[in-house]
Amino acid sequence: MEIKNICCIGAGYVGGPTMAVIAQKCPDINVTVVDINEKRISAWNHENVNNIPIYEPGLSDIVAEARGRNLFFSTDVDGAIDKAEMIFISVNTPTKTYGIGKGMAADLKWIELCARQIACIAKDDKIIIEKSTLPVRTAAALKDILYNTGNGVKYQILSNPEFLAEGTAVQDLLNPDRVLIGGDIDTEEGLEAVKALCNVYARWVPEKRILTTNVWSSELSKLTANAFLAQRVSSINAMSELCEKTGADVNEVAKALGMDSRIGSKFLKSSVGFGGSCFQKDILNLVYIAKSFGLDEVADYWEQVIIMNDHQKRRFADNIIKTLFNTVSGKKIAVLGWSFKKDTNDTRESAAIYVADHLLNEEAEIVVYDPKVEKDQVYSDLDYLNTRSKEANRKNLKVSNDPYDACKDAHAIAILTEWEEFVEYDWEKIYENMLKPAFVFDGRNLLDVKEMLRIGFVLKSIGKPQPIKVMADNTALAS
Ligand SMILES: NC(=O)c1ccc[n+]([C@@H]2O[C@H](COP(=O)([O-])OP(=O)(O)OC[C@H]3O[C@@H](n4cnc5c(N)ncnc54)[C@H](O)[C@@H]3O)[C@@H](O)[C@H]2O)c1
Repeated sequence: MEIKNICCIGAGYVGGPTMAVIAQKCPDINVTVVDINEKRISAWNHENVNNIPIYEPGLSDIVAEARGRNLFFSTDVDGAIDKAEMIFISVNTPTKTYGIGKGMAADLKWIELCARQIACIAKDDKIIIEKSTLPVRTAAALKDILYNTGNGVKYQILSNPEFLAEGTAVQDLLNPDRVLIGGDIDTEEGLEAVKALCNVYARWVPEKRILTTNVWSSELSKLTANAFLAQRVSSINAMSELCEKTGADVNEVAKALGMDSRIGSKFLKSSVGFGGSCFQKDILNLVYIAKSFGLDEVADYWEQVIIMNDHQKRRFADNIIKTLFNTVSGKKIAVLGWSFKKDTNDTRESAAIYVADHLLNEEAEIVVYDPKVEKDQVYSDLDYLNTRSKEANRKNLKVSNDPYDACKDAHAIAILTEWEEFVEYDWEKIYENMLKPAFVFDGRNLLDVKEMLRIGFVLKSIGKPQPIKVMADNTALAS
């Protein structure tokens, strides 16, 4: 089957970068990314390619190369569906905030809307690809909607979950560990559809890294991969608390563990807690699915990963309050970093939001600086929590576009994102302009401990013996 036109519904963190790379690698295929969000589409079409709505290293160059040639961004969803032989669904699937499954299950209303729209518009056979992360067996529901609403058109439904990590999305897409394609591999039509999608990726991904499975294995593998990754972060974070009590250093423990080839070194970095749009929602979804099958032990096991993560964020904020002589009321605290990790402007579920919210409850006066996050986004993240009025959020939290101003006259600095530029700052100058004792809470273990102590800061790192002191021989040790 020859694919000439691809449509992707959803121009977000997955749809945008994924389609940009497909368009770059397949110049003979027209790729149209559609979205109902007009503002987002016009940002993707911005004449200055540096103003596209998603910041990812390397993405602007790829968009610049392919946009207008065979990559298009549009709000004409119907038109793109009609033209395409292959339709990726890459819409959001957040945790439900209402009704049955509230706070746990994935909200599939946007997925269902896409299926209904495709069924209404399609006049010829289509391959539908689940790119969004979905609960296992969603493909069955999609099939039901497509066949019961449609007009005799035939569909093949494939699962092709996306494993990119924000911040390294372009590299992950250009050089993926694997591409996973689940399809109806017991039928000839199913196999043909799987092959058509394999052929798209095979333009740049070695065949041995393209894995085909049945649909259900593919759907479940994505949820499981995120659960395993998040579990590693919660496991090392659990040990960080024990390190702080025992004099062990979590970085040393992680290094010793990581050199064991059975364990491996990735995802063993202790921090203030994981964020991002996926880990929490996908684990909650897994917990919900396990519970709905009556598998309570399985559900409880995975839920603990979230409980540990919430605890890590909370204890970081509590430690700030405790260290600042048990009150932060009226004290200026500079928050460096608002995105959930470096090299992205995505703030969804960022630990910074929860730490700031907790400190605002304690009447702190917060100033936030992040190199890539806009002021409106910071306020919208806080307002979404609904903890206090919008006015109170704006009164007690300010957003600065200068890190030195943000830190001036502060009682404490909290590092919440591992932006590399933070390491390069003139910390002597920051120290001079702060109130003393000058506290720094390094939620990412980013800063050079010895240097910070030499300057005079009181530094609180994650999973390090507390307090840290520089010894006569210039080594940093627990006192
Ligand atoms: N962000 C990640 O790192 C990541 C990684 C892998 C998988 N995923 C999964 O990919 C999916 C998309 O995630 P995202 O981060 O790109 O979300 P996103 O919120 O950034 O983008 C989704 C887009 O879909 C659009 N949309 C929703 N309903 C629509 C409709 N009916 N028609 C047209 N457009 C519609 C929204 O307006 C939005 O712009 C989710 O299921 C997520 O779990 C995300």
